[in-house]
Amino acid sequence: MTQRYRFPDGFLWGAATSAYQIEGSPLADGAGPSIWQRYAHTPGMMANGDNGDVACDHYRRYRDDVQLMRALGLQSYRFSVNWARVLPEGTGRVNAKGLDFYSRLVDELLENGITPNVTLFHWDLPAALDDRGGWLNRDSAHWFAEYAATMFKALDDRVPWWSTLNEPWVVVDGGYLHGTAAPGHRNLYEAPLVAHNLMRASGAGIQAYRAHGKHAIGVVFNIEPKYAASERAEDLAATRRANAYMNQQFADPALLGSYPAELAEVYGDAWPDFPADDFKLTKQPVDFVGLNYYTRAVVRHDAGALPLRAAPVPQPQHTRTETGWEVYEQGLVDMLTGFRERYGDMPLYITENGSAFYDPSTAEGEVLEDPLRMDYLRKHLQAAHRAIEAGVNLKGYYAWSLMDNLEWSLGFAKRFGLYHVDFATQKRTPKATAKFYARVIESHGGALGEP
Ligand code: BGC
Repeated sequence: MTQRYRFPDGFLWGAATSAYQIEGSPLADGAGPSIWQRYAHTPGMMANGDNGDVACDHYRRYRDDVQLMRALGLQSYRFSVNWARVLPEGTGRVNAKGLDFYSRLVDELLENGITPNVTLFHWDLPAALDDRGGWLNRDSAHWFAEYAATMFKALDDRVPWWSTLNEPWVVVDGGYLHGTAAPGHRNLYEAPLVAHNLMRASGAGIQAYRAHGKHAIGVVFNIEPKYAASERAEDLAATRRANAYMNQQFADPALLGSYPAELAEVYGDAWPDFPADDFKLTKQPVDFVGLNYYTRAVVRHDAGALPLRAAPVPQPQHTRTETGWEVYEQGLVDMLTGFRERYGDMPLYITENGSAFYDPSTAEGEVLEDPLRMDYLRKHLQAAHRAIEAGVNLKGYYAWSLMDNLEWSLGFAKRFGLYHVDFATQKRTPKATAKFYARVIESHGGALGEP
């Protein structure tokens, strides 16, 4: 084994999941419904009519699932809290049994030598808050801070890493612009208001942490580097708009306290005049930033593709995953170095990275062969290593995902797991990628140099 890919001492190896995608039992023990519970039970919204009623049944099987993590040698596990388990109405009354689930999960992790990394909001807003306007309501920042403080008081003694939000872009683009995610709105005028209130909420959550927490808090963005299809001025401008909309709309208010000028072009009449004071709230000092990387986009001008007036150009020379995403590991390096250039040098984690490739619904044998996923993991970890060599302060990597789960409105058919899940029996089977990742962790990256 070569030492070519050995990672720096202290580099953290993990895997990630989120509540609605794995837990099941969404209404158990006094939990309130979330917007994803409602969306998934609205006819026509989910592929194959799938929903999160059972998912991976993790709410009941979490102890066994911690053993899967242990078998990988994971040092850290990133999961999210379903807000409506803890506060069924979103604010006010705390549901002790819901909170206790997360407390037991944290204890189980720690007993097995795995450090918890908790995300407060991974898209499952309590339905009761949606009834009060959800993220369109400016009070959402206070609701979120109240919930966040409840979690910090309960778990910060045992949880060293917290994130406020996971991928606010998906909430805005899927949930409010295209209707492909909960709450299923399609409204250009709502999108920038929601984006803004999400980042106000994140800021309010970080402020709450400074009052109640002692460790580290950050926020998680999905970054998809945008490359211009040509040097033509209109393609370059389209690329800047696409980049502003997806990659800067959230990180800029959080880290720079402003919006990129291109957003006014993207939203046109729908672009609001935000109160200047709001940026004092959005821009709070963070201890780290989490970045999720899956793919890149090559962009050209397209006057008909609204609101961006930009369209992706397919890259047939590269493999595509089952979700249609181009495999492009250099994008991970460009994302990390680009982030550092724009926002400065801060501790970064890759909080998600992974791929869906076809696996059968039932796994035969002890290990399921999944060469394409393994190749994806290898290439992206090698790329992460190159980014560190280029001087990026990358502290850790979380594979998406620990196990196959509910891929939101795409249902259970898109499998991202290190472990295969047979959703008819709940049997977990390691994929070859899980075995490979365990070797990578054990060798602290050395196994990435294997032929
Ligand atoms: C999300 C996950 C999702 C994954 C794959 C990210 O957008 O945070 O919840 O399953 O990517 O699509």
